[in-house]
Amino acid sequence: MFQKSLFIIIFSALAFTMAALAAGEEGEKAVNGGELYRLNCSACHGLDKKGNPPVFPSLLNLAERMDSKQVSSQIRNGKNAMPPMSHLTDRQVEAIVAYVLENKNESVSVDENERGAMLVSGNCMRCHRVKPGDPAPPEARMMEPPMLSRTVRWHDSAGFKAVLDVGPCYMPSFEDMPDSDKDNIYRYLSSIPVDSSFNADRGHRGCRMQRGAKKSGRCGDGRCGGGKCGGMCGGGR
Ligand code: HEC
Ligand code: HEC
Repeated sequence: MFQKSLFIIIFSALAFTMAALAAGEEGEKAVNGGELYRLNCSACHGLDKKGNPPVFPSLLNLAERMDSKQVSSQIRNGKNAMPPMSHLTDRQVEAIVAYVLENKNESVSVDENERGAMLVSGNCMRCHRVKPGDPAPPEARMMEPPMLSRTVRWHDSAGFKAVLDVGPCYMPSFEDMPDSDKDNIYRYLSSIPVDSSFNADRGHRGCRMQRGAKKSGRCGDGRCGGGKCGGMCGGGR
């Protein structure tokens, strides 16, 4: 529920700003510091920057503890459960730092692939790794959900969107996310190489686990409650 209303807020705000700002090159849109924060950071630190301590620290009054160099380095390199945001350009990092430290709204351009990467780090990496080497996702419970760069090898785009709409097990539904953003996510994830030993036919372990769990009326750690585990898992199989 929280996630759902979060998305309504994020995307109505975005739609408004984007309509107001002229688009630059094709596929590029001007996005300001506040929107960059919403895309990349708010799923963990909250739209209001209050976080969710103790796991996700509050970023209020951040300037009292950190300077711009430290904040940009933490965004770039991550720290413990905070993933490194290597998809951000220097300008985008600067705009985010200005927003979290000084509430400034600097405008920068973002293309569709970058937008896909932002949506993933901001919304999915709480629970999913994207590729090997990513930090352990802080909200993954029991068996970790599958690595996202792999899921696009066994789901076509329609199947992938169906998963996002449903939200299997404890994954929230992203039904309210615009279709174009689901495409941006799919395209971005497909652009990440998987190692040659990876086999999409054998890599699909997530759903099998869920099916077994559902049979016993539990989903994962049972937190989904009463056997109601969000309906389907994935797009078939
Ligand atoms: C997947 C969740 C996640 C996302 C997304 C995320 N963070 Fe974090 N962040 C964390 C966690 C967890 C910590 C605590 C790290 C630690 O010290 O163990 C943290 C710590 C921080 C801190 C240090 C705060 C302090 O008082 O020590 C800053 C600054 C910060 N994040 C900024 C950001 C910004 C800016 C973004 C977006 C570009 C962002 N974070 C995105 C999870 C996240
Ligand atoms: C709160 C945790 C959480 C968040 C946030 C989350 N997921 Fe998931 N995801 C899960 C769980 C749990 C599963 C089910 C894993 C299983 O079946 O074993 C799952 C499954 C999936 C699957 C299906 C994998 C398969 O087995 O075919 C896809 C695709 C997926 N997630 C994509 C995403 C994307 C993209 C985002 C961000 C927009 C996201 N998820 C955000 C927890 C999460």
